[in-house]
Amino acid sequence: MRSKTKLAFIILLFAVFNLMGSLHLMAQTVWVDELDLSTMTQGYGVPSKNKSLDGNILTIAGEKFDRGVGTHAESLLTILLNGKATTFNARVGIDDEVKGQQPAAEFIVMGDGEKLWSSGIMRIGEKAKSCSVSLAGVQKLQLIVSDGGNGNYYDHVNWANARIETKGATTFETYNPIVSEPYILTPPPPAEPRINSAKVFGVRPGSPFQFKVPATGVRPMKFSASNLPKGLEIDKESGLITGKINTKGTYIVTLKAKNAKGEAKKELRIECGDKIALTPQMGWNSWNCFAQEVSADKVKRAANAMVESGLINHGWTYINIDDFWNNHRDSDDPSLQGELRDADGRMNTNERFGDMKELVDYVHDLGLKIGLYSSPGPWSCGGCAGSFGHEEQDAKTFSEWGFDYLKYDWCSYGNVIDGLPDNDPYKVSSLSYNGGGELETAKKPFEIMGEYLREQPRDIVYSICQYGMSDVWKWGGSVGGNSWRTTNDITDTWKSVSGIALDHEKSAPWSKPGNWNDPDMLVIGHVGWGNTHPSKLKPDEQYLHMSLWSLFAAPLLIGCDMEKLDDFTLNLLTNDEVIAVNQDPLGQQATCVHTIGDLRIYVKELEDGSRAVGFCNFGLDILDIAYNEFNKLGIDGEQTVRDLWRQKDVANIKTAKDDLSLKVPAHGVLLYKFTQAR
Ligand code: GLA
Repeated sequence: MRSKTKLAFIILLFAVFNLMGSLHLMAQTVWVDELDLSTMTQGYGVPSKNKSLDGNILTIAGEKFDRGVGTHAESLLTILLNGKATTFNARVGIDDEVKGQQPAAEFIVMGDGEKLWSSGIMRIGEKAKSCSVSLAGVQKLQLIVSDGGNGNYYDHVNWANARIETKGATTFETYNPIVSEPYILTPPPPAEPRINSAKVFGVRPGSPFQFKVPATGVRPMKFSASNLPKGLEIDKESGLITGKINTKGTYIVTLKAKNAKGEAKKELRIECGDKIALTPQMGWNSWNCFAQEVSADKVKRAANAMVESGLINHGWTYINIDDFWNNHRDSDDPSLQGELRDADGRMNTNERFGDMKELVDYVHDLGLKIGLYSSPGPWSCGGCAGSFGHEEQDAKTFSEWGFDYLKYDWCSYGNVIDGLPDNDPYKVSSLSYNGGGELETAKKPFEIMGEYLREQPRDIVYSICQYGMSDVWKWGGSVGGNSWRTTNDITDTWKSVSGIALDHEKSAPWSKPGNWNDPDMLVIGHVGWGNTHPSKLKPDEQYLHMSLWSLFAAPLLIGCDMEKLDDFTLNLLTNDEVIAVNQDPLGQQATCVHTIGDLRIYVKELEDGSRAVGFCNFGLDILDIAYNEFNKLGIDGEQTVRDLWRQKDVANIKTAKDDLSLKVPAHGVLLYKFTQAR
């Protein structure tokens, strides 16, 4: 009996220990700050364990926290839970260390691709929000902080007290679905000559003609052209075609380029008529890199780099000066001070620019073209002189200086609509963003400048900038515009680029040769609005950006520091098969014709009957699928499928029976061309 009691006691003890053990296993807390954060991505700096981004105590609206992760929007941490967690808890908000700035951010918790919780947009000084989310059955948890819609400047954000309650797990693995290491897809151009020009070029009768034959291949290279219309000649050494065509018409010219390795030929259709910019503009603009720091010297250096980097051989042409080339209304910077106009009312350049004609000639001598910036209001967006009341004179001045391009930016025109104090535009010091209201009011300032530009004795590409107000894509062409911005300013974040891309769809039916919808400039390379850094877009996001802008037939305007072009950026900008999609003469803007979860499939019909197709993965997971719904893409029969980034054929399919296997990186793209097999 005794020994039986003893045995029972031992069994009981064992059971209690076991129970305690499993209770212990059931009630684990895993702190996010204990996990491997090396896979976490963020817009600036590195994730900070138990400290703010700048290394201070985590503090949200005065409340201090001992534990958590300090990060910077845009940020992403993916945690593999494998169904072993029960809840996620945290207190979130913007750290007090950025007081005085205007950060805005949104905290988002995703489970297996579904949004489980969101903080809404939070601002500085806002109390920490409590996040408590059930994770029952969740395999993959994603903690995201997005930029809150105003760019990610100073978005120092905290996941304070962030922890996962588990059913026994003591830690979790983290991983990153978005590749961080740049990888190069564009093959180097062959040593033999290859002519990379668009197939069509538009000019008005009597306008000075300037077209440089873009060609890759070893130098020296000799150029020639047969069937050039009367009035044009080609420089054999540089491939620059100049002169003047006086008679309207279509001229089919054969361009030739020859070097020690061989000879290349390509047909160019010159359309001499009313329309210019028959393919989207390709060039560089100073804003996304220099912003208010631009100078003539920096512009010359950008132009030199356009030539020295070889970009000119792929069709990149315009060097565009944005805001801050003339004097400012009230800047402290001495180089921006001075009379806005001379005694005759002619716009003065600021001290950093001096002799504009000299700069224009310099750029033209390199075989490039050059653009300038102004505003229909009294002030530019940055507060420099605008063209209000001087439109005719300014158009004439810009033309006399020799400009080939004008970006005309709405900004302070809202003041004109609002009514000017004492009827004196120059008394207006703050910007009004009054968007124009009535259609005629919105169109008027662009119509005025459009007409004056058209009167000039040279072709000036007219780039309208008013951020897509009043559905500009519907009337931009009727006021003489060659392109018009469809959205607000771009920044180098996934949120900005993907948001603009999704928003761009609405304008698609209005895209055509000479009339381009402009989703703003490229944010690849070293960008930074006066203080540059490598683009915060991940490599796959940059491939997607460049692919979509090509599919969209968008103006391609490089926004980076041209003296800091790295191999990866050059690979993005020199893929002639991708550029050819952008420059296709049909001028169609791709639209998304089929969606499978986060996969958006964009199709652009090309002049030769083939189709460029972008399989774009907007999601956070690699997509590995067998695709066969070709009828949705308007594609049937036997097709050759070419990977344009890799410049190689990847499949030959019969659409009725074959699958195409696709592996699309997270936030990445496969850009294919489907051509009817012969
Ligand atoms: C606006 C435009 C930008 C740039 C700046 C210059 O924000 O959208 O592209 O031109 O003005 O101040």
